[in-house]
Amino acid sequence: MNIYLIGFMGTGKTTVGKILAEKLGRKFYDLDELIERKAGKSIRDIFIDDGEEHFRKIETEVLKEVAGGKGYIIATGGGLLTTEGNYEVMKESGVIITLAASAESIYERLKGDESRPLLMVENVIDEIKRLMFERAPLYIKADYIVDTSDVSPDEVAAEIMEFL
Ligand code: S3P
Repeated sequence: MNIYLIGFMGTGKTTVGKILAEKLGRKFYDLDELIERKAGKSIRDIFIDDGEEHFRKIETEVLKEVAGGKGYIIATGGGLLTTEGNYEVMKESGVIITLAASAESIYERLKGDESRPLLMVENVIDEIKRLMFERAPLYIKADYIVDTSDVSPDEVAAEIMEFL
């Protein structure tokens, strides 16, 4: 079974995924990185040049590619579940774990970061809250939810390993 890490931007999916892969001796994949490799440009440039819809299309393609693997640890992008069908692809091929955090801690982690096109808005904290609220019904569909607000990535990885 694969292990899918989902959840909002800045919850530590990539960092925790790498730790888990190391501890469990599994292969790690970061969907955002695979998307950039496939498109030959950064996520920011994909959004600017081709639009979000095109980004979501590539995102689903790379998900389906890695879903065929066995025992991979996969860090996904925060909006993966907004595309219909992606939940089922993950559910059928692995365990889904949501990394959660408060809007405030996400804001602290991401402020000044220019790599997230969806947060290139005037009022970042309001946009984080709005998107979080909109996506909450998707994130709670996971098999397990871990709060990352006040804990280290190592502690988050340890909690996930206990669940597994
Ligand atoms: C997105 C999250 C990003 C990236 C893209 C869109 C989103 O990934 O896929 O900017 O819709 O929440 P991270 O969650 O790894 O930041």
